[in-house]
Amino acid sequence: MSASGIERVVNGFREVFGREDALVRSPGRLNLIGEHTDHNLGFVLPAAVDKSINLAIRLRDDGRIRLLALDKQDHYEGTLDAVRPSGQHWPDYLLGVLREFQERGCALPGMDCAFGGDVPIGCGMSSSAALEGGFAFGLNELLGFGLDRVELARLAQRAENRFVGVNCGIMDQFASLMGREKRLIRLDCRDLSYQYVPFEREDIRIVLCDSQVSHSLAGSAYNQRRAQCQAGVALLKAHQPGLESLRDATPELLEAHRAEFDPEVYRRCEYVVAENLRVIAACAALERGDLAAFGAAMNETHAGLAHGYEVSCPELDILAAAAQPLPGVLGSRMMGGGFGGCTINLVEAPALETFLAAMAPVYRNQLHKDPIIHICQLRGGTERIA
Ligand code: GLA
Repeated sequence: MSASGIERVVNGFREVFGREDALVRSPGRLNLIGEHTDHNLGFVLPAAVDKSINLAIRLRDDGRIRLLALDKQDHYEGTLDAVRPSGQHWPDYLLGVLREFQERGCALPGMDCAFGGDVPIGCGMSSSAALEGGFAFGLNELLGFGLDRVELARLAQRAENRFVGVNCGIMDQFASLMGREKRLIRLDCRDLSYQYVPFEREDIRIVLCDSQVSHSLAGSAYNQRRAQCQAGVALLKAHQPGLESLRDATPELLEAHRAEFDPEVYRRCEYVVAENLRVIAACAALERGDLAAFGAAMNETHAGLAHGYEVSCPELDILAAAAQPLPGVLGSRMMGGGFGGCTINLVEAPALETFLAAMAPVYRNQLHKDPIIHICQLRGGTERIA
């Protein structure tokens, strides 16, 4: 986020609360490949980006919670002895974090927090994980709880699962907290082992095209997809007792029991099993520098998300279909949970101008919107900046 953006948060905080104890930058994330594999304990390839939520935090000693969402110009007040869903939605990401700290037995004294940023809300760059992780990180720093980043990611994920009510996987919180400059994170969501994969290519740009469809329905549909995956696991487990998640299923096992499946549940599981194998193959392609193969895998992911997992929407399909055949576009697909948000495009640097010129009329004529396109850099994870 720009220096002026950080200043805005500092000024917004000081106007209302006085001097902050800490200032935290917490980035949004992108994901090159591996969608809806995290909650199936498979592989993902995300990174933290150069857009962030910044939080100014000050401790209090009277058990009060005062929160200020600068971009929404909205506030919340409550007390630590009665942390419950706010009815305002956005405070719940922060209150969920407080509840998780309380459940661990971490003593909280009270706090003021103001936040704002340039991670576009609802655009699939996970502003919610940035907010949860940044708040958890800041309190952990100020109160010396001693949790490491992976523990903070788990805590932030639980806050979203149990308090906000979205049964998300760990990818977003992990990427936001664990990101590194010019690195992707190849994460195994079963045991949280990970490797940083260098992505320093000056000749490739990572470009996000915002569909400007805010994925408000995503929560319930997300939970429904997750339940369908679990139904698939329950069914397969009867045939292969050691099977813990769709990560353990092969296409052959799935195919062999096709007749026992509800067809919709089958389509969901088929996508997940294929996507997991695709991430492994795509990572191998990246390692040998075969970006054409990597991009082709991204295109296949889009098709799977659109037709098998069914979490795309017409606007995302239009953006991906328009981008895929353009010269210099290696791959294009919807990114994140779905039902809106962005497409992610790998574009050869010399083709960037023609890409932007070609996408503008697609936005205007087919989506009836002005283009909103972000060119992303990979940045370090959550950090204290003051
Ligand atoms: C959302 C969730 C993640 C992940 C993606 C889909 O961003 O928060 O945990 O499941 O969707 O890959």
